[in-house]
Amino acid sequence: MSVMQAPEGRIDIRQLSIVLGTGAQAFEAVQGLDCQIEAGQFVCVLGPSGCGKSTLLGALAGHLQPRTGTLDVDGVSVSGPSPQRGMVFQQHTLFPWRSVRDNVAFGLKMRGLGKAERYRAADEILALVGLEGFAGHWPDQLFGGMQQRVEIARVLVNRPRLLLMDEPFGALDALTRLRMQELLLDIWTRIRTTVVFVTHDIDEALFLADRLLVMSPRPGRIIEDLRLDFARPRTTELVTHPEFTRLKRHCLELLHYAEGRQLPRLNPLGLPETSLPRFAL
Ligand SMILES: Nc1ncnc2c1ncn2[C@@H]1O[C@H](COP(=O)(O)OP(=O)(O)OP(=O)(O)O)[C@@H](O)[C@H]1O
Ligand SMILES: [Mg+2]
Repeated sequence: MSVMQAPEGRIDIRQLSIVLGTGAQAFEAVQGLDCQIEAGQFVCVLGPSGCGKSTLLGALAGHLQPRTGTLDVDGVSVSGPSPQRGMVFQQHTLFPWRSVRDNVAFGLKMRGLGKAERYRAADEILALVGLEGFAGHWPDQLFGGMQQRVEIARVLVNRPRLLLMDEPFGALDALTRLRMQELLLDIWTRIRTTVVFVTHDIDEALFLADRLLVMSPRPGRIIEDLRLDFARPRTTELVTHPEFTRLKRHCLELLHYAEGRQLPRLNPLGLPETSLPRFAL
């Protein structure tokens, strides 16, 4: 009899508050945050600078402990870092003295896998991110987009439940960024891990995600939770779709939301553009 295995990577956050700093400088960076994310979902988190996005990712990675509330992955409380919850940052963190292959295989080495096995796994993941032929290169020999591919490979080689991404394409030029977004979606269709992707870029968030969470200014709370049902595979034509424009306008208003003001509501469908309030950037 075969046993159906539940997909891994479900996130359950309840009343999460995180305090940063110590003593008189201590402050709440994230406050009373509630959120459930299904296994395999692609979630983008958008919010103004300093609202606590990286703090939230840090808690998911296990680097920061909650002050109050709970944070579970697949029903187990996150109590510290784990290869099952890997992070990709904006700047690469590759070891410059190790080859691309050794960088990718490093996590497996730490876990005691033999050389042949970890190289086989590393080469398989490098092919997945489109870097076959670059295994013997040094990180400095790669362009920005390629370094970020190695970062992604380094996380994915551990077959993580969560892929956590903190503005991973923020330092790339526009065209490379677009290519990386398409590549990431392509990878994600093949390795259905849960992705939590933080970005400042509304277009990027709407293009990538199944679901978009928008955070308030500090202390960060979730002020919008949008389901994005655009068909996949997504192509760049999506950005000219009227529904994309409608959601983009709403996100812009949300990013300008300040405590005490009325929370922007999504305009009803079918309203002519001209009847929508003009938004000053
Ligand atoms: N270790 C720390 N000690 C004190 N304050 C901190 C620390 N780390 C971050 N902060 C502050 O905490 C707040 C939340 O930071 P966080 O990095 O989570 O924001 P963010 O939403 O990721 O911002 P950005 O979009 O600029 O990356 C910010 O005001 C930041 O300046
Ligand atoms: Mg940040």
